[in-house]
Amino acid sequence: MKALVTGGGGFLGAVIVRMLRERGDQVRSFSRGAHSSLSGLGVEQIQGDLSQPRLLKEAAEGCDIVFHVAAKAGIWGSYEEFYDANVSGTINVLDACRANNISRLVYTGSPSVIFDGRDVEGGDEALPYPARYHAHYPRTKALAEQLVLDADSSDLATVSLRPHLIWGPGDNHLVPRIIAKGRAGKLRRIGKRPCLVDTVYVDNAAQAHLLAADRLLPGSGIAGKAYFISNGEPLPLWEMVNRILAAAGLPPETRSVPPGLAYAAGAVCEGLWSLLRLSGEPPMTRFVAKELATAHWFKIDAARRDLGYQPQVSIDEGLERLRRWLAAEEI
Ligand SMILES: NC(=O)c1ccc[n+]([C@@H]2O[C@H](COP(=O)([O-])OP(=O)(O)OC[C@H]3O[C@@H](n4cnc5c(N)ncnc54)[C@H](OP(=O)(O)O)[C@@H]3O)[C@@H](O)[C@H]2O)c1
Repeated sequence: MKALVTGGGGFLGAVIVRMLRERGDQVRSFSRGAHSSLSGLGVEQIQGDLSQPRLLKEAAEGCDIVFHVAAKAGIWGSYEEFYDANVSGTINVLDACRANNISRLVYTGSPSVIFDGRDVEGGDEALPYPARYHAHYPRTKALAEQLVLDADSSDLATVSLRPHLIWGPGDNHLVPRIIAKGRAGKLRRIGKRPCLVDTVYVDNAAQAHLLAADRLLPGSGIAGKAYFISNGEPLPLWEMVNRILAAAGLPPETRSVPPGLAYAAGAVCEGLWSLLRLSGEPPMTRFVAKELATAHWFKIDAARRDLGYQPQVSIDEGLERLRRWLAAEEI
C-alpha cells in the first residue's frame, strides 16, 4: 500500500510512518519542514502547508490511503491559526482524497472534542460534542472531525481515532512540559481529588491507526465512526505525572492549589497574554485548569471490538522506555 501521512515527521506521525515502513508499505509525508529522521526510513517528503490545496493534491497522487495526522496542537494561539490548520487544512485533505480517487482516510482526532469541563468517567463514543469549548484546539478539532465523518461515502471511507494524552519517547508536547515545569519548581496539583485520567503510549496510538486502516473500506462497519484510544489503564492524574517526573529523575509533586484559584489564574493569564500580546504560552489557561482538575477516561471497548485494538505496551513498560530515552537524549 502507498500511504500519505500528513505530519509524518511529528511525534505520533513518525511512529505511524515507522510502523508502515516496517511492514513494507510505501510512505510519503507532508509537512512544512523537512524531517531528517524520515529520510533514513526511505520516506518521500513533500514540504507544504495544509493551507495549500494544490500541494496537498500533488502529495496525495498515486496513494491508496491518507493518514491525516498533522494539526496545530497546543493551548495558545489565535482562533484563525487553529481554524486554518485544523479545519481548512482538513477540508483541503478531503479534497485531495477526492481529487485522487482515494478511498480511505484515517483521521487523528482528539478526545478533547467532547470535553465540556466536567468529569468524564468511563465515557464512550455516544458522548455528544459540547455546546461550549474552553479553547480553540478542541473546538477546531471537533469541527474537523465532524467534516471527516460527514464525508464518509461509498467512494471515500473515513474514520477518526481519538488517542488520549499521547506520551513516550519522541514526545514534544506533554512530557517535556511536565519535566521543564517540574525542574523549575512550577508544577502544582490542581485540587486534591484523585481524578482518574487515561493516557496512551505512542506506539499503541500508532498501532490503532494501522489497525483502522486495514479494516477501513467504503461501507465497512468502522466507516464514518470515531473511536477513543487509550492504554486502558486509567490512573490518578498526579500519579501519572509523578511517574513521568520519576522517569526523568525528578521528585514527585505534592503541593496543590484549589481548582477555583487555578481557573481564575487561567482567566487572568489569558487576558494578559491577549491584551499585552505577550509571546509564548501563558503558564495557565482555563482549559488547562479544567483538564488538570477533572477525571477524564474513556471506555475503549468499541476500539477493541471493531478495530481489534489491544494496547501492546503497558504503562510500566512505556515508562521504562521513556526513562531510557530521556537519559539518552539528556532531557
Ligand atoms: N500529542 C497528544 O497528546 C495528542 C492527543 C490527542 C490527539 N492528538 C492529535 O495527534 C496528531 C499528531 O499530534 P502530535 O502530538 O504528533 O503533534 P506534532 O508532534 O506537533 O505533529 C504534528 C505535525 O504536523 C505538522 N504540521 C502542523 N501544522 C501543519 C501545517 N499547517 N501544514 C503542514 N503540516 C503541519 C508538523 O510538521 P511541520 O512543523 O514540519 O509542519 C508536525 O510535525 C494531531 O492531529 C493531534 O491533534 C495528539
